[in-house]
Amino acid sequence: MDLKNKIIASLEDQKNIFGDELFEDIKLSKRKTTVIKEKNNVVSEDFQSANNLEELSKLICECKNCILGSSRKKFVFGEGNPNADIVLVGEGPGADEDEQGRPFVGRAGQLLTKILESIQLTREEVYICNIVKCRPPGNRNPLPNEMEACIPYLHKQLEIINPQLILCLGLVAAQALLQKKDSLGNFRGKIMEFNNAKVMVTYHPAALLRNPGWKVGCWEDVQQFQKLYQSIKK
Ligand code: URA
Repeated sequence: MDLKNKIIASLEDQKNIFGDELFEDIKLSKRKTTVIKEKNNVVSEDFQSANNLEELSKLICECKNCILGSSRKKFVFGEGNPNADIVLVGEGPGADEDEQGRPFVGRAGQLLTKILESIQLTREEVYICNIVKCRPPGNRNPLPNEMEACIPYLHKQLEIINPQLILCLGLVAAQALLQKKDSLGNFRGKIMEFNNAKVMVTYHPAALLRNPGWKVGCWEDVQQFQKLYQSIKK
């Protein structure tokens, strides 16, 4: 494919996923990123020694390892069952989450609760968290250096919880967790792995609010996810 057609295909991909909003492309693998560290970096590698989620939260909640630490109202660590079989991973807090310090509590969160209920799960029995723990201003996508600075916290959360299944909500979460630059269409419907867990990917609930027609696809994804869970539980 020549460059012009590559650009057109890439824009079409974006339109299929995000509708008419244009987002900056994220390049996780090859781009050289500069991690902007503030002078008063309060989080050291000590967080790796945390034995449980509570300890981890205390060690990282003052983090200023990237610029999102300066604009956040609240650090959104994550919440739910610390022994969950299932972890849901979103992209990053929005305005409501930033206010409350809890993940997925706004409109997208309410839809997520309904999606979970449709497969007989409650928020309380799963664990819900994000790739970045602080709100990107104006709800933009987190930048590569922000994700790079924050993802060790997610990795540590997953190490502690040791879930059997992970559901990534949206392309940003999928690409960041799986470290793979692929399209949502290619991720969906596949069972992948992250450490000990099987990973599936579906639409971000905010994308479903903007494009209700995608709810059918999400329904199919979560049905498959439920079947996978049932087969693991046997
Ligand atoms: N969108 C996300 O990706 N995460 C949240 O916590 C809320 C909205």
